[in-house]
Amino acid sequence: MSKVATSVGADAANAPWVEELWQQIIGKVGRMSETIGADFPYISYNGKYNSEEADWWTNGFWPGLLWLVYRESKDDQLKDTAAQIEAKMDTVLTDFYPLHHDVGFMWSLCSVAQYKLLGCEISKRRAMTAASHLVGRFNAKGQFIRAWNQPERVGWAIIDCMMNLPLLYWASEESGDPRFKHVAAFHADTTLREFLRPDGSSHHIVCFDPESGEREAALGGQGYSPDSAWSRGTAWALYGMALSARYTGDQRYIDAAKRAAHFFLANVPEDGLPPWDFRAPWEEGMAMDSSASACAASGMLELSLLVPEGESELYRRAAEKLIFKLNEKYTTWDDPSEEAILRMGTANRPKKTHVNVPMIYGDYFFAEAVCKLRGVHDTFW
Ligand code: GLY
Repeated sequence: MSKVATSVGADAANAPWVEELWQQIIGKVGRMSETIGADFPYISYNGKYNSEEADWWTNGFWPGLLWLVYRESKDDQLKDTAAQIEAKMDTVLTDFYPLHHDVGFMWSLCSVAQYKLLGCEISKRRAMTAASHLVGRFNAKGQFIRAWNQPERVGWAIIDCMMNLPLLYWASEESGDPRFKHVAAFHADTTLREFLRPDGSSHHIVCFDPESGEREAALGGQGYSPDSAWSRGTAWALYGMALSARYTGDQRYIDAAKRAAHFFLANVPEDGLPPWDFRAPWEEGMAMDSSASACAASGMLELSLLVPEGESELYRRAAEKLIFKLNEKYTTWDDPSEEAILRMGTANRPKKTHVNVPMIYGDYFFAEAVCKLRGVHDTFW
């Protein structure tokens, strides 16, 4: 199918290019469901998605994408595939040891999604189990949620975890037990204080003494250096703070999301494709990250619902432009043999793993942002 050719600027909810793009996504996800099935796709090489183990942090994005489309198409094949993936992840919930803080990424987009759309009781129980695990990772002295499981990383927290917090806010709403949202807000406050810089950029990793809770150091992690600006980290901060603001109404989180949005917009190149780190030196074959832009765009659309009308337009149009630009140059509509939707994502440049390739979360956030541009703002987060 050809790319959609028209301009940004009209009311996106009624813009023909947005509707045409959405129809392309519906068709594409239907074809993906036939070739990928109930696997755990992460990265596409030579046109074909791989499949990860059941505990991999990105495993919610494929069912999430299926649910985004099912919500409108009501295609039972998409529903059944998403439900099968969710059931396959049960081994992770019961094994305990493979669980990490990314249970929010994983179970919000499959179990919370299925529960919100279909009222499925088993899905609710899975999501509540995942939320209980996440609360159990809270370090009360340092007021942060522990990220990973290695013994030497007991005191580590990462900016990505802002996207795990909606599972906790949801769990409090569902159960009437405020402990989940209390933990989420403590972690968000620690992120405000220890991760976000005044210019709107963010550290990736902050290490705390797990006994005293004292901050020890910031690390570069998936970014270029401790003081650089990993572009996807900026997107996690932006969207994560906007989601915390949506659930709590806390103006400090809105302000933080705005700072991150402005930093992103001031640094993203004109074609909408950011480098993997806004402060990394430019090099031949630079690693770029379309997933950062897709996530930032969806985050800006979330933010647009939280600010007064005049400002709202600023974020909505900025998001619209990012999606328009990504679609213009980095979607795969011209290559039907490619399983993925969005090209040019980078998973981990410092480790040189998966550089300038399609990634399932790039596809998810791109489709989610297009839903929002069409005026569909209900969220699985
Ligand atoms: N949450 C890991 C990443 O953004 O790559």
